Amino acid sequence: MTSQRIRKAVFPVAGLGTRFLPATKTVPKEMLPIIDRPLIQYAVDEAIEAGCDTLVFITNRYKHAVADYFDKAYELEQKLERAGKTEQLELVRHVLPPGVRAIFVTQAEALGLGHAVLCAKEVIGNEPFAVLLPDDLIWNRGAGALKQMADAAQASGASMIAVQNVPHEATGSYGIVATEAFDGRQGRIKAIVEKPKPEVAPSNLAVVGRYVLSPRIFGLLEATRPGAGGEIQLTDAIAALLAEQPVHAYRFQGTRFDCGTHIGLIEATIRYALDHEKLSDPARDMMQRALGELGVKDQD
Ligand code: UTP
Repeated sequence: MTSQRIRKAVFPVAGLGTRFLPATKTVPKEMLPIIDRPLIQYAVDEAIEAGCDTLVFITNRYKHAVADYFDKAYELEQKLERAGKTEQLELVRHVLPPGVRAIFVTQAEALGLGHAVLCAKEVIGNEPFAVLLPDDLIWNRGAGALKQMADAAQASGASMIAVQNVPHEATGSYGIVATEAFDGRQGRIKAIVEKPKPEVAPSNLAVVGRYVLSPRIFGLLEATRPGAGGEIQLTDAIAALLAEQPVHAYRFQGTRFDCGTHIGLIEATIRYALDHEKLSDPARDMMQRALGELGVKDQD
């Protein structure tokens, strides 16, 4: 992979989001909010911070909400303008900054994450690109996780996969990598497997939803047959990429919340509230009260 700047980011958001049913009957998982912004907005901001100006959303035909969210909201803007609500108007206008374009590609059938990424092939062309899974929310006071990875990819020319250590018994929920010794935050990946049982997992280093990938991945995805769960797995195409090009595991700086699970979404909400300028104190008070009340109940 050549050391090019990463300009394009892919957001696969065509999954069914079954873990959040019944809410996800009508609200896509990526539109669930942390405080006042949907998950997709956090991922988009992270991609823009990393230097991306072309955002490719892989949606399904039922997910109008994501496209609507990034579209101009004429009527709402007019109403806010007339009501003199300038602060709110700015918030609505700046979901995407000027100079950033959003492209929507439909994944006709939910055939898996690998298939969703392959749907972006024509838009990406022959350049390295980023993939962000919005339900992995990564919080950091300094540079965002994707910016850290894009800089590292540009410096080394290798593809980058975000990783973090998970409890050994949790390997069955993740792609798991085996690497050479780490040099700083990076270690070259020797093997990658999708959702291995703990007894056969090569490590407890798990893939989380940030990738910087060589465009070679598209050819490999085209040759990938359905794997774990009958889906076309991105992990399987990355396994094939390892044989041809360097792919590094990247231990990003930041805290990741798995907002694809109930407890992860709750944890993220609490952490963002505690870090929020206006909400921090009332949230702390509310939590203390709630815990106190539970404590009283437990003694009954
Ligand atoms: P998940 O494994 O989290 O699946 O997909 P899901 O359907 O979103 O959620 P659950 O498990 O049913 O609750 C990982 C990512 O890949 C995308 C999803 O939108 C999510 O961002 N994806 C998955 C697609 O875009 N297309 C697919 O065919 C499958």
